[in-house]
Amino acid sequence: MPYLWFKAFHITGMVVWFAGLFYLVRLFVYHAEANEQPEPARGILQQQYQIMEKRLYRLITTPGMVLTVVMAIAMLITAPDLLKQPWLHVKLGLVALLMVYHHLCGTWMKQLAKGEFKFTGQQFRWLNEVPTVLLVVIVMLAIFKNNFPTSAAAWAIFGLIVAMAAIIQLYARKRRLDREKLAASTEATPEASAT
Ligand code: HEM
Repeated sequence: MPYLWFKAFHITGMVVWFAGLFYLVRLFVYHAEANEQPEPARGILQQQYQIMEKRLYRLITTPGMVLTVVMAIAMLITAPDLLKQPWLHVKLGLVALLMVYHHLCGTWMKQLAKGEFKFTGQQFRWLNEVPTVLLVVIVMLAIFKNNFPTSAAAWAIFGLIVAMAAIIQLYARKRRLDREKLAASTEATPEASAT
């Protein structure tokens, strides 16, 4: 019975962790794009994003990670034989990558707070796909375990997910370019925009 409690909170923690990671990097997108705004909008927006990012990272994302890992350790103490399972070894490798990404998010957050813009909004959008891929593969490992599907149909489903993510990115890029074009044409003909 305790095992099921640990598993329930393991999944709860993982949902909180991922919600935090996805929203955090989306805030980085807005934060980086705010840098292209004129003052005073730029300063006001960036200060607001900085506060939101810090709270999200400290109060949601990191506690989500801690809950996931603590509950996983509790499950492994209750059922130590799981440690012999090959699927779990692969999963642990991917979780290690996820933790590196989590740590990098903390580094990017500090850089943005200092006004260092190492990535554009578009680059942050692409980076936000890293946890998407890790999420799909880790959940599949947890569900299929040692029978991880490798058939053509499974690869087709995976390809579809990747294609959908790419389409969303390209659509966001198109909308941004359209916005920039509109802003440039409004600046070029101010009298036209006044009418
Ligand atoms: C330290 C990292 C982690 C460890 C050691 C770990 C370990 C485990 C273990 C032992 C189980 C129970 C499997 C079973 O009852 O058959 C489990 C279940 C599960 N884990 Fe993790 N996990 C970790 C991180 C994660 C992460 C990051 C995710 C999500 C991306 C995740 C998603 C799941 C899911 C969805 C289940 C339920 C699977 C089921 O009941 O069929 N885990 N995990």
